[in-house]
Amino acid sequence: MSVWAIIPAGGTGERFGGAKPKPLTDLEGKPVVVRTLEVFAQCACVEGIVLVVHRDWLKDYQDVVLIHKLKKVKAVIVGGDTRTQSVRNGLAFLGVAADVVMVHDAVRPLVTAGIIAAAIDAVKITGAAIAAVPVKPTIKGVDPKSMTVTETLDRDLLWEVQTPQVFDRKVLARAYAEDRDGATDDATLVERIGVKVSVFMGAYTNIKITTPEDLLIAKAFLQQTMA
Ligand code: C5P
Repeated sequence: MSVWAIIPAGGTGERFGGAKPKPLTDLEGKPVVVRTLEVFAQCACVEGIVLVVHRDWLKDYQDVVLIHKLKKVKAVIVGGDTRTQSVRNGLAFLGVAADVVMVHDAVRPLVTAGIIAAAIDAVKITGAAIAAVPVKPTIKGVDPKSMTVTETLDRDLLWEVQTPQVFDRKVLARAYAEDRDGATDDATLVERIGVKVSVFMGAYTNIKITTPEDLLIAKAFLQQTMA
């Protein structure tokens, strides 16, 4: 079974600010994206990695891949205006090269080999599987105009979805071929074509670095694992 990873890193980081895109930001001595790529590169089961980046930063990402000797990164390609378009470009580049595709956000550097192994076990059974964790807070729907509560959701039924999201390549390709509206994750497109998506346990430490305080949290987690 040939497993490839697509790592979307093509965002501009509007919610983050800063001079560089988030994936190029330093996290305890290495760029965020390098930490992410190293975890996938060190997994024997991963055959190759396609890194999808913002057009304005292509050279910077190419340099980072070379400097850190990330040989499993087989291509650095340009993404699109949305995450969906960036992953679509990654899939198009892959063609029929892979049996299984893992999609993982560049800005989740605290993913572990254990989570990747769990992803591969899960996809073998179902063909579509996502990492997630049960939500800890109470979540309410809020009407943005009146700023009043519209509903309180049953916390026991809610899971926060993460990446990696892992799919039989043919299933993911069909979901992308039929997609018209995009989505904030890949599983949504697969759900829309009627394929059941299974859930496996991610980790509360597998955070997405979105805003500056997330970087502080990631540093704290990393310092703990490096101690
Ligand atoms: O925007 P969001 O937080 O959902 O981004 C998740 C991942 O998708 C990030 O790693 C980001 O760089 C990537 N992305 C992308 N192309 C875009 C927008 C986001 O590859 N146009």
